[in-house]
Amino acid sequence: MLRAKVLVGGLLMSVASVSMAHADCGSNDLHEDMENLKTEMKSLSFNIKRGDYEQAEERVDAVLEILSDARDETPYLFEEKGLEGQELEHRQADYQSVIDDTIAAFESLDEALEAEDDTQVKALLKEVGDLRKKGHRAFKADC
Ligand code: HEM
Repeated sequence: MLRAKVLVGGLLMSVASVSMAHADCGSNDLHEDMENLKTEMKSLSFNIKRGDYEQAEERVDAVLEILSDARDETPYLFEEKGLEGQELEHRQADYQSVIDDTIAAFESLDEALEAEDDTQVKALLKEVGDLRKKGHRAFKADC
């Protein structure tokens, strides 16, 4: 009986520590920005599919605001790796440069939507997808 209690207690503790690790990993402001980005991107694709470019341009404005906010945040991965001083500055600058490329891609997307240039819109959506992959591969912790 005691053995069973110890076992259950141990199990509960390990479940708690796993969920706490996840809470740690997912509770920062950057994570929130990214979740909002995902929501805006879903609406943006929907607007584009329906040919509603005016709404789509509004979504792009919202995306640009989120990205400018995300630029000032620090990826959790850097904290997890214990980066400090110059190394942290260096990696933060790398991160910001990929965010800047993403901002530039969305600014071009805004112009392509204004011009109703379908080919360019498609190409820029692909570019955004590639930048997302690049950003996640380099700066997202595995959690
Ligand atoms: C439209 C483009 C993007 C979308 C829709 C997006 C979406 C997301 C989502 C849904 C998450 C949280 C879920 C998960 O952990 O798997 C996330 C996390 C993350 N993303 Fe993005 N992302 C985009 C672009 C980028 C870019 C360009 C970068 C870096 C330059 C980036 C860096 C990160 C980081 C570092 C995390 C982990 C959060 C943290 O460290 O606190 N993302 N992203």
